[in-house]
Amino acid sequence: MSDDLLALKRETDAALAAATDLRAWDAVRVGVLGKSGRLTALLKELGRASPEERRTRGAALNVLKDALAAAIEARRVELEAAALDSRLAAERLDVTLPPRPFPAGLIHPISRTMEEMAAIFGAMGFEIAEGPDIESDWLNFSALNIPAHHAAREDMDTFYLPAPAPGGRRPVLRTHTSPVQARTMLTRELPFRVIVPGRTYRADHDATHSPMFHQVEGLVLDRDITLGHLKGCLIDFLRAFFGISDLPVRFRASYFPFTEPSMEVDIGWNRKTGELGGGGDWLEILGSGMVHPKVLANCGIDPREWQGFAFGMGIERVTMLKHGIPDLRPFYESDLRWLRHYGFNPLSPALLHEGV
Ligand code: DAH
Repeated sequence: MSDDLLALKRETDAALAAATDLRAWDAVRVGVLGKSGRLTALLKELGRASPEERRTRGAALNVLKDALAAAIEARRVELEAAALDSRLAAERLDVTLPPRPFPAGLIHPISRTMEEMAAIFGAMGFEIAEGPDIESDWLNFSALNIPAHHAAREDMDTFYLPAPAPGGRRPVLRTHTSPVQARTMLTRELPFRVIVPGRTYRADHDATHSPMFHQVEGLVLDRDITLGHLKGCLIDFLRAFFGISDLPVRFRASYFPFTEPSMEVDIGWNRKTGELGGGGDWLEILGSGMVHPKVLANCGIDPREWQGFAFGMGIERVTMLKHGIPDLRPFYESDLRWLRHYGFNPLSPALLHEGV
């Protein structure tokens, strides 16, 4: 092979060795084999050579061309392998490294209590029902056997809204979740078990009262419901909710217009330490009773065929007792320091106590 061809081979080999990435490699390839590459130019010149020279030089050029093509291809394979190796090294992931902590929001204690109640009552076959914050006078009071001028209306410090028509009854901000009892009886097919968590309103504001607060209502209607069902259901709920399997529970005769008989429910605690359990003192925690036949009749249900029990309790109150939260007001202040202290991890399960 003539000197110029040997030189081309040597120079190409050197250029390939110096090309350390695929871009540089491609420049070498184009410079040799491309349209205006050095080998291409030599092949073009061959046309002007004598027939004798064309044969010998042509054969040599063909050998050179194969050698160059092979060297170029071999370098490509090398460079691609090296590129993959360095990518694999750079993109390696240490799966044993702990993840960086990221700031997560916390569940407000009110929401947490509602979730826990939904979990505990849900396990007992209850569904969740809801109603609006603005209620008619009829649903909030009359349907529940609280007629106009009844003392219970005065007790409730009701927020009234303007009457929609002159002389009409003024709508109210619901003073309790009990109107959803009536709504459920009017719309749901019997039998049913529902709980109703939600906001309630009374014109009352001090260290232990907020004008807006939360209640949960319960209503069970079926054909053969007795006081025994009411007691069993509430004892199981209270023990599961407070996480105390032998929590003393007492039923005390009381009065509500919408239940007959009516009972207030007390749980055991220690007045001095504030600890819940068998401390010898009693703490009132909720209202309950067998649904009054008049309430059933008001909602189009035959009280000779259907009966049931109802209950209602304050969500803030049970939340404060369960978690030792001393003051009601910070519940609504969105103070991050309070939320960080009393808030709940959103990933922890709400149903902590088995055996419901
Ligand atoms: N609605 C009552 C209140 O706000 C609580 C209550 C008592 C609800 C007895 C009930 C019940 O369903 O049966 O004080």
